[in-house]
Amino acid sequence: MTYLEASRRQAEELRSRENVRILALETSCDETAAAVIEDGRKILSNVVFSQIDLHELYGGVVPEIASRAHMEACDRVVDEALAQAGMTLEAADALAVTYGPGLVGALLTGVNCMKGLAFAAEKLLIPVNHIEGHVSANYLTHPELEPPFLCLVVSGGHSHLVEVADYGVYHLMGQTGDDAAGEAFDKAARVLGLPYPGGPRIDALAEEGDPRFLTLPHPKVEGRYDFSFSGIKTAFLNAVHGMEQRGEKLPKADLAASFRFAVCDQLAEKTERLLRDRIAEGKKPLLALAGGVSANRELRRRMAGLCESLGVQLYLPRLDLCTDNGATIGAAAYYQLQRGNIAGLELNAVPALRFV
Ligand code: KG4
Ligand code: ZN
Repeated sequence: MTYLEASRRQAEELRSRENVRILALETSCDETAAAVIEDGRKILSNVVFSQIDLHELYGGVVPEIASRAHMEACDRVVDEALAQAGMTLEAADALAVTYGPGLVGALLTGVNCMKGLAFAAEKLLIPVNHIEGHVSANYLTHPELEPPFLCLVVSGGHSHLVEVADYGVYHLMGQTGDDAAGEAFDKAARVLGLPYPGGPRIDALAEEGDPRFLTLPHPKVEGRYDFSFSGIKTAFLNAVHGMEQRGEKLPKADLAASFRFAVCDQLAEKTERLLRDRIAEGKKPLLALAGGVSANRELRRRMAGLCESLGVQLYLPRLDLCTDNGATIGAAAYYQLQRGNIAGLELNAVPALRFV
């Protein structure tokens, strides 16, 4: 029997079983992370080794450094995740790995590590889309949440409004035509001289600032639920450079607050439009947030206020599950397993893997 045939048999058997434990690995960017998840909902362990220290010096992620650091950390992080779950590799029912989207070298490190383990331990391997992992943070945080629901996915590389029609089934409602929200936060932070990653730093600074200090443009976009952040970013950069040229001291907290407001305002506006359209159709939508930017305090407050006024149930992922980690990959993997989605040993990294 080939590896894939054996995996298909295992998958068939696991689909009717309870207490399915999946060991998942995530290496798509600058976090080497592993976790053990039971039945897609329960975290038995979640170990995140962040490489931020290694990249901070360069103001962003250096792909070659990331790949090397993943290579050095993979085995340790996997062993630690198993140890914290109180189990051996033998006791894992299946393995899972992020195979895209992300940095090709970083992804390849994780994919090869898990392919090696899967072959040696004769375990099936589940390929996971990183963005689907972000959405699944909500399954770990909210045991009662089930599709269908609407989800605003905002990370360093993605800004999408989707409908989660079923587990692993997504319909695109809106997306950014240029920068992702997280990317815009990181660029704005850089011009303020804040270290990488800038999103959380802008968020913290903005708490002390006045969002009315700087009025940023309201972008025009094609689709009814689409976003655009490049105009806001350019106007912000020009305003900061202008102040620097005039020798003015930068009111960083006010600038951060103004930028954060403009980004969140747009995310909230389009989400509100989608929710209102659904309500007008007689539906009762649920809304979840996902991705690194869903940790943003202003975004959480705005969405909470919006959902309260519309009578919509809001699901926010646990803060430590917003950014990259292995637990969300293990949760997404469980539902892929239910759909029979397993990998052969030819599995490769797909850096531009699509989500919808
Ligand atoms: O989802 P994530 O961990 O990685 C990707 O898949 O891209 O997102 C990282 C992004 C970075 O751009 C980071 O600056 C941003 O999420 N981020 C935030 C906050 N926390 C993380 N942006 C704004 N406010 C935050 N609190
Ligand atoms: Zn991510």
